[in-house]
Order: sequence, then structure tokens, then C-alpha cells
Amino acid sequence: MSVANKQEALHYNIKVYDGNFGRNYDKTHPKEENHYIQKHHLKIIRKLVKVFRRGSLKILDIGCGTGDLSLKFCKITKDSIIFNLDLSRVMLKNLKKKLAPEEIKRNIFICQDAYEYLKNTKENFDIIATSGTLHHLFDYLEVVNLSCQKLKDNGFLYIACEAKRHTNYFQKSIHLMDDAVYMYKYRKLTFLKFIIYFVYSFTHFLQPITKCFRKKIITTNYNPEEQQKSEIIKKMNMKEIFKILKNNNMKVLNYEDSPVFKNEIFYKITLMFGINDYFQLIAKKVG
Ligand SMILES: C[S@@+](CC[C@H](N)C(=O)[O-])C[C@H]1O[C@@H](n2cnc3c(N)ncnc32)[C@H](O)[C@@H]1O
Repeated sequence: MSVANKQEALHYNIKVYDGNFGRNYDKTHPKEENHYIQKHHLKIIRKLVKVFRRGSLKILDIGCGTGDLSLKFCKITKDSIIFNLDLSRVMLKNLKKKLAPEEIKRNIFICQDAYEYLKNTKENFDIIATSGTLHHLFDYLEVVNLSCQKLKDNGFLYIACEAKRHTNYFQKSIHLMDDAVYMYKYRKLTFLKFIIYFVYSFTHFLQPITKCFRKKIITTNYNPEEQQKSEIIKKMNMKEIFKILKNNNMKVLNYEDSPVFKNEIFYKITLMFGINDYFQLIAKKVG
């Protein structure tokens, strides 16, 4: 864990997501990014919604951000109520801007810590979903536990998240290469800077020396160290997650792990080596 306590975790997340990183989130995380994950989200959401056939569903997106999941739920289910829960005012504000006036009416915005909300709410949900958020939560296991308790019988939990940070030299290098190509493609890095960054990918073991050099090539308008700190959990306890699901009568219907990459080529390379640092899980509450 990169922070000492929950207060610190909240502090960095508010700082990052209410700051420049959050303000520019959609620019730095465009839809083209991680298209594998985007396709997967859509497939799962369609499947989950189809199970209920009709009726107004109550759907909660934990750490909804600018609506990567909740917007898809909103577009696919025309009469559902979507609860958008996030700690960041800025992220929620940017999500609101994407909704048409008639959609705003059936969207609820909750600016609160996930654990606090789940502990105190009287609501029960048909679907609880969360993507890219659990590793930002100091108390992610409690949040999974409370999510199970807040589901109606036959309700679904969908979790998509980074399970662990890349640790070895090969993984780190390939992630930096992936980042370099992404920056070149979508954030208009000049060709020369791209080549330097790409070469830097192999020499990142010299980080203490090359850190400031890298900063000069990649100019970000946010503080990368703070952003790193907002990602609290470096390795998720998957065994414990499965235990919590079992204790709450949740049946795991699907579990997949995969690499998390922005460009398909790197995704395919790492898939061959079996480096899976991302997971997607669907579980159903069985009475
Ligand atoms: C990486 S973003 C993911 C956003 C969105 N789900 C997506 O997939 O694009 C993580 C989100 O978690 C939110 N977050 C961080 N800590 C939180 C907490 N304790 N309670 C609720 N949301 C939190 C952040 O504000 C941010 O919007």
C-alpha cells in the first residue's frame, strides 16, 4: 500500500481527481484507449441488462468517474435509475455534461466516499458495477462486502479492475512502450520525442538518473507522483474477494483476467507471456 491510512487515501484521490488529472480525464483516457476493455464492458452490460428483460432497474456505478460504465447503462436501459457515486465533484460534473436533459432526470449523483455511502444507504440495487476504481480504495474489501449486501436477490455485481501493478523489468518496459505509442497516437507527441521515449522504455532501470529527462519529454499538466499515490492498492487480495463473495451467497458466473494495454499489439504480446494484471468478474446473488 502506498499510503498509511484511509484519510491519506481520500486526500490523494480528491487532490488528483478534483485537480488537473480529473479535469483532463476524458482527454487523457479517450475511448480509443483500451479498446479491448471497452468492447468487453459493452458486451457484459448488454448481457446483464438482458437478463432482467423489462422493468426499471436500480443500477449503482461505484467510482463512476466521467461515466465509462454508467453512461453505457443509461443508454442501453431507457427507464432505469442510475446512481453515479464518486468522491470527485469534478468527475461528476463532467459526467453530467454528457447527459441529455431527459437522461439527467433518471440519474442520481452522489459525491461521497464509496464505503460511507454503502454503509449508510437504504437503497438496494439490481446491478452494482465498478471499473478501474477498487484499487483507489483503502477499504476495497469492505466495499466489495457491502456491495454484495446492497444487492437485491438475483442482482449482479460486475467488477473490472487492475489486480496488480507490473513489477518485473519486462512488464515495466513493455508498459512504457505501450504508453509511448499511445502518447504518439493520441496525445500528439512529436516523432523525435516518441523515439526518445521509446528508447527510454528499455532504460527505465536508470530511473533515478533519467527521471528529470523523462519529465522534459513528457509534459503532463498533473503531478504523476500524486496520481501514482491515488492508486492505493498495488496488489489485490483476490482470494479474499472470492471468500467475501462466497460468504454473501454470490455465485461467480464469469472471471477473466487479461493484460491491460492501450495498444492491441502489446496486449497480444503480453497475452502470450501470460501477464494478466487486470480482471473482470461477474457474480450473481443467489437468494
Ligand atoms: C481511474 S478512475 C475510474 C473512473 C471510471 N470508473 C472509469 O472507468 O473511467 C477512479 C475513480 O474513482 C474515484 N474514487 C477514488 N476514491 C474514491 C472513493 N473513496 N469513493 C468513491 N470514489 C472514489 C475517483 O474520483 C475516480 O473518479
